[in-house]
Amino acid sequence: MPTAAATKTIPQTTQNIEAKPNAFRSDFNKKSFQFSHNLVGHRLFSLPRLAELAKTLLADTTTRSVRWQAGGAPVDAGWAVPLNEKVESVNEAISNLAESGSWVLLYSVQRDPEYRALLDQLMSEILSDTGCRREDVTWEDAYIFLASPNAVTPYHIDHEATFLFQVHGNRTANIWDANDRSVLQEKEIEKYYAGDLNAAKYTVEKQAKATVYALNQGTGVHHPSKAPHAFKNGDIYSIALGIHFCVRECDQQAATYQMNYLLRRVGLKPTPPGKSAWRDKLKMSIIGMFADKNPKTKHDMLRSGFKKLTIPLRAVMK
Ligand SMILES: [Fe+2]
Repeated sequence: MPTAAATKTIPQTTQNIEAKPNAFRSDFNKKSFQFSHNLVGHRLFSLPRLAELAKTLLADTTTRSVRWQAGGAPVDAGWAVPLNEKVESVNEAISNLAESGSWVLLYSVQRDPEYRALLDQLMSEILSDTGCRREDVTWEDAYIFLASPNAVTPYHIDHEATFLFQVHGNRTANIWDANDRSVLQEKEIEKYYAGDLNAAKYTVEKQAKATVYALNQGTGVHHPSKAPHAFKNGDIYSIALGIHFCVRECDQQAATYQMNYLLRRVGLKPTPPGKSAWRDKLKMSIIGMFADKNPKTKHDMLRSGFKKLTIPLRAVMK
């Protein structure tokens, strides 16, 4: 059931991210950090408005827009989470979020103009606060994640740098250091960029190395590109907005990881990105030669070069 805080209307301000610590500038895309914001109670996050948004997104069949699953997965489930068979529609899952045992992800919500305006506003604040240059952002997106009480978001990595805004409910965020190779191995990153989105594996031994954040509504957390993360809801339903975006330097690193995946497959021990400028440049240029010059999607931008380069290899393996 929506709370009073989720249904009230507040005036849209020009500054939504508050109490900006120095971390915004010094730690952006290097370390995770917590911040606060004033999106709690914003009308775009009421359950009826979100159910309407889901309907709008589902009507657009040109792209995947809604992921709708059961909320009771374990932390090591990867993305192999079953569909929620207890409810009949995404509308029911959202409208009855407190009881439906659901996990709903609304992708690219900026296809609705009201959410587009909010994404634009937040991106301009984030870029200003972090010092990240607009021309270095190669792709941006906003998603809204809704989950019933006690739902788990399993351990995984993303290519994007992410700012997550907790708008309703409370969650525990576990975030690991993307550069700690005792947590995230080079091989796992290479497999991820070769297309295995479940390549990063959770083990109980890694738990002690997580930075744990208690996220209440009105707080948020930044996790850098490739920083492993997992979330656990508290005892009330959760609504969170994610602003995530690709940064050119990480895109280039992704190409190096893709070449390293291939080199490892033929028995070599590839040099990780950042250790040899000429090797990185050579690997990037090989992937770049095959990549779509005008990619229409993030997937094409990141993976089209690798995909085309490996067509013969995949044919042989078949
Ligand atoms: Fe994620």
